[in-house]
Amino acid sequence: MAAPRTLLVTGGAGFIGSNFIRYMLAKYDYHVINLDKLTYAGNLDNLRDVEGDPRYRFVRGDVCDSAVVTELMAEADAVINFAAESHVDRSIEDPGVFIQTQVYGTFVLLEAARNASIDRFLHISTDEVYGHSLGDQRFTEDDPFKPRSPYAAAKAGGELQCHAIKETYGLPIVIARPANNIGPYQYPEKAIPLFVTNALDDEPLPLYGEGLQVRDRLYVDDHCAALDLLLHEGEIGEAYNISAGNERTNIDVAETILEMLEKPKSLIRFVEDRPGHDQRYAMSSKKLEALGWSPQHDFEAAMEKTVAWYRDNRDWWKKIKSGEYREYYERMYGQRLAGSKPFKG
Ligand code: NAD
Ligand code: TYD
Repeated sequence: MAAPRTLLVTGGAGFIGSNFIRYMLAKYDYHVINLDKLTYAGNLDNLRDVEGDPRYRFVRGDVCDSAVVTELMAEADAVINFAAESHVDRSIEDPGVFIQTQVYGTFVLLEAARNASIDRFLHISTDEVYGHSLGDQRFTEDDPFKPRSPYAAAKAGGELQCHAIKETYGLPIVIARPANNIGPYQYPEKAIPLFVTNALDDEPLPLYGEGLQVRDRLYVDDHCAALDLLLHEGEIGEAYNISAGNERTNIDVAETILEMLEKPKSLIRFVEDRPGHDQRYAMSSKKLEALGWSPQHDFEAAMEKTVAWYRDNRDWWKKIKSGEYREYYERMYGQRLAGSKPFKG
């Protein structure tokens, strides 16, 4: 009998990576090695339910460390690269670490992969590499990269190396470009878990600018199903957009959360905008849909599941919010909230 397939998942202790590991262990008899540096965003609480599974192994390490990456690559059949600094606001404050992980870290992984017998390297990029959509523009995979934040530029740098390595050395690379994910275990610096957990605590919901920017909200399980498909059936060398068609303004999202939790709209505060704030992300997923994928959660279903999870898992986020997060929150929102405008909707 052939040995079970071994997946090397990087950044698996974060939001999407932990959901993906749980999804894959439930569906397949694969082995999973989770290589994660455990930055502020990495959290082993995200995987408590699988940590005793004999098919799962956690290794604390940095994707920039070629010794550990080379050692693990020798055991792996496929790589799924989630490891990244993921928050746009932090990239505006301190871009260097984004370049380090997204660009140099991806280089280290690719170097190790081309010297090993990897049958697939699935790289998780982002819709933000296209920059923002203007008017009715909906990006397709052939549109040029025009990143507008340090985060997006670092992600573009990581992805471009993947394309070059595939062309030069024939490494079997597939690229995913997902929209904004929502669901369980998302660090509460991101808009939706921040708004939901603040609402549960009767704290203000800080909306940047006028709250009119638009994001497409992809439920994380739908994203995992798309990655599963790309891992097995994505065409080598191709990039695939993953969008849900759940586009809403930030103000709509905040109002929906408050309605679901039966909290007053007066919790909404308009605060100073993010510099260079991208207006809208919108993509077409036709290429992925042609492989047989479609999202199973519309906006309401995705929001209902997400809001319910944070309502029912207070211990998870209370622990995060009582740690170094408080210093981050004060730095990011203290002055902004002091100068905020109330909601008059
Ligand atoms: P996250 O911040 O929740 O998790 C990132 C994980 O990577 C953490 O566990 C962290 O410890 C780990 N990590 C960071 N630097 C590392 C390093 N140098 N070596 C090893 N591990 C490291 O992020 P997420 O939201 O789960 O995003 C996962 C991936 O998906 C990222 O590549 C991100 O750019 C991409 N993405 C996310 C979204 C979204 O909406 N969250 C949308 C599009 C693309
Ligand atoms: P975020 O979750 O940071 O994702 P991204 O910037 O990668 O899309 O932000 C989602 C949207 O919400 C974005 O338009 C910025 C906005 N936002 C706020 O209005 N207030 C906040 O406190 C945060 C974190 C984001």
